[in-house]
Amino acid sequence: MSATDPPHSLDHYRDARYYDHAYRRYKIDVDFYVELAQTVGGPVMELGGGTGRISLALARAGIEVVMVDRMPSMLRRAEARFAKATKAVRERITSVEGDLRDVDLGRTFPLVIGPFNVLQHLYTRQDVERALATVRRHLEEDGRFAFDVLVPEPSSLIRDPLRFYKNRPIKHPETGVRYGYAEAFEYDHDTQIQTTVIQFTPLDGGEPRYDRLMQRQFFPREVEALLHYNGFEILAHDGGFKDEPLDEYAESQVVVARARPA
Ligand SMILES: C[S@@+](CC[C@H](N)C(=O)[O-])C[C@H]1O[C@@H](n2cnc3c(N)ncnc32)[C@H](O)[C@@H]1O
Repeated sequence: MSATDPPHSLDHYRDARYYDHAYRRYKIDVDFYVELAQTVGGPVMELGGGTGRISLALARAGIEVVMVDRMPSMLRRAEARFAKATKAVRERITSVEGDLRDVDLGRTFPLVIGPFNVLQHLYTRQDVERALATVRRHLEEDGRFAFDVLVPEPSSLIRDPLRFYKNRPIKHPETGVRYGYAEAFEYDHDTQIQTTVIQFTPLDGGEPRYDRLMQRQFFPREVEALLHYNGFEILAHDGGFKDEPLDEYAESQVVVARARPA
């Protein structure tokens, strides 16, 4: 954890087994990253590879991938998933523990990706600049950089931070313990960080425990400016994984860029 990271910014990734369970239905982006890698060609560098969801899909499609993540819990879970894959798939994936703000693999790639809101864990302009320098350091000449971040949703940014929105109870995939599940949303208008406070209340009694997901919100024209002033040219900036427009219905900003020649 860097000195600039806010407290609790790692919380959401400590219980990787539950993380995988919670997002088990999230697959909307997989074809986009696999097809892009097939078009551009591998090997691919994945920033914030997590539990290997996208890296595994790339490796299954025959593409070599190196994923970097700073959370040992997520990497251990990724390794457990990779262990179940065929030998050929396993051999195409390398996972590296490191911080995407300063990692140096000493090689370049035709494609660097940051799927599923990874860049929203960059909480300051300096962190964004360091991350974009990492991308430039690892991109081949005329290589592609693709990532997605959420579109800030104005009505969600003004919600009462004390109000918990209840959802269906969940059962922890490892312990089997059942919890009431609720979320509250706090938005800091200065830092543009939205914190989702997740409340787990044991259904058989006991104190609730809390998890926090902290995501810097990037408005579309900030994404454009940050890329431009850090030496990138935007090739596509869409409102979804199937070329949807970046309009009021868009949930994700999906960006493909390349480094501008010096
Ligand atoms: C939402 S998950 C996405 C995981 C994966 N890309 C996917 O699509 O399933 C975000 C991941 O980014 C990692 N991460 C956040 N900040 C990071 C940093 N500065 N360096 C490396 N990994 C980071 C977290 O540990 C987490 O595993």
